[in-house]
Amino acid sequence: MSGKENRVIDPKCVIVALDFSDSGEVMELVSGLDAANCRLKVGKELYTHCGPALVERLVADGFDVFLDLKFHDIPNTVAGACAAAADLGVWMVNVHALGGRRMMEAARAALEQKSHRPLLIAVTILTSMGESDLLEIGLSGSAQENVIRLAKLAEQAGLNGVVCSPLEVDVLNQLCGETFGFVTPGIRPVGAQVDDQKRVTTPVDALNAGSDYLVIGRPITAADDPLAALQAINSDIRQSFPITA
Ligand code: C5P
Repeated sequence: MSGKENRVIDPKCVIVALDFSDSGEVMELVSGLDAANCRLKVGKELYTHCGPALVERLVADGFDVFLDLKFHDIPNTVAGACAAAADLGVWMVNVHALGGRRMMEAARAALEQKSHRPLLIAVTILTSMGESDLLEIGLSGSAQENVIRLAKLAEQAGLNGVVCSPLEVDVLNQLCGETFGFVTPGIRPVGAQVDDQKRVTTPVDALNAGSDYLVIGRPITAADDPLAALQAINSDIRQSFPITA
């Protein structure tokens, strides 16, 4: 991921979250999108319904795919799962930082063996968890303290970045190295419905705070014209930032 000084924005910084259960719906949406202007995220629901064949199809259609399966298991198993994701040709894959340093290092080492090497990022603390949830599973300290500790652990384990809230990016940016990247959901263009997200940030504000990639679902996928919704977001971004080739 790019350094933060004089940063320029990736022209495909928008990652469209494909939160569907049916490959027909996905292919209908994706046929209207352009692989030059966005990336795609396949999560647990879609993957469990449609499996690796759908991922391979999206990759074959030219899309960079973030396989958001949040692996969390013993190091050997997570390493094998990450290697399998690399073989599918995905652009990015993720693990839970709570799996620990050895698990993250094993995942990184497995990807280093691959000719096609996806970016490897970590989830720190799920944003659905509050401080009482954390206490219940034995994690003391505030959610933010836990996020910071786990992000630094992910960085030490050689991962490329973390998924985090746009509201956490600023502080993590100051504590992590220049090339450590941030992938942020909870994004809503000005005027868009908030849906079930609690705290949202606009695409431009999230990039200003230091996000590298923006995960955006319903503002694009539920729009009457998904391509127009994506183009409007990209156009706002392009008016505010220089774009890399
Ligand atoms: O439709 P919407 O833009 O809210 O979709 C956001 C996507 O980002 C969904 O795939 C959701 O699961 C994911 N996500 C999130 N908040 C997190 C982590 C992931 O909304 N903290």
